Amino acid sequence: MRKRLIRKLDLETLLSQVEPHPSPKPSLEQYTIPANVAATALYIAAYTYNDIIDKTVLDLGCGTGRLALGAAFLGAKQVIGVDIDKTAVRVAFKNSEKTGLKNKVQWIVADIGAIHGKFDTVIQNPPFGIQKRKADRKFLKKALEVGESIYSLHKSSNRDKAFLRKLKVSRTNTVLVFPSNFIKRFIERHNGKIKAVYPMLMTIPHMFNFHTKRRHEFVVDLYVVESEALC
Ligand SMILES: C[S@@+](CC[C@H](N)C(=O)[O-])C[C@H]1O[C@@H](n2cnc3c(N)ncnc32)[C@H](O)[C@@H]1O
Repeated sequence: MRKRLIRKLDLETLLSQVEPHPSPKPSLEQYTIPANVAATALYIAAYTYNDIIDKTVLDLGCGTGRLALGAAFLGAKQVIGVDIDKTAVRVAFKNSEKTGLKNKVQWIVADIGAIHGKFDTVIQNPPFGIQKRKADRKFLKKALEVGESIYSLHKSSNRDKAFLRKLKVSRTNTVLVFPSNFIKRFIERHNGKIKAVYPMLMTIPHMFNFHTKRRHEFVVDLYVVESEALC
């Protein structure tokens, strides 16, 4: 049966009802992905690459569930969200009740290292590795081990003001950029191939002591990756 196309605005509205973590820990970089960024990433995965609808989807480091719930809303066959933090998963479960998606997502409290199996799609917004160096690499490695198609968000080093302005006014997400050399090498070493990199503007409120401004605005890159390990 063909599933109807969901409007991006409807997806964003649903995601904006997803509550963030009530007491985020800096050591785990527990900030919640903004609803607009989550909607854009999910929309690209679903409608540009056909990697969500009727697929098995794993959200590594699911936090309070925005990406997992969005995948379920778009019509994934099965969704699993995993996070090491009990409180985050408890809130994710409540969010699934609030959004009417309780029966569509399974939640697991675990370190991502404990996850095995095969999934059509992994979608993740890992810690950027600001507090714990290289924290995002463990996520990439696991995603490439268990997923066929991977959508992974990473902080970009691009701080060019003109580029930021361009992203701010861009309504479509057709801008593509080159991957960072480091991430590219890491992905290739773990049998992955980058298909595209989409830059997005992320704005998060002041949350932790090390944040110096009221709002933080920076570029994140959505890496679309194909794992050759599972082919
Ligand atoms: C940047 S937050 C993203 C949360 C959520 N995915 C979102 O986008 O709103 C990263 C998440 O990874 C979780 N995390 C960090 N290290 C982890 C690990 N080793 N295993 C499982 N989850 C982990 C944190 O608890 C946190 O919820």
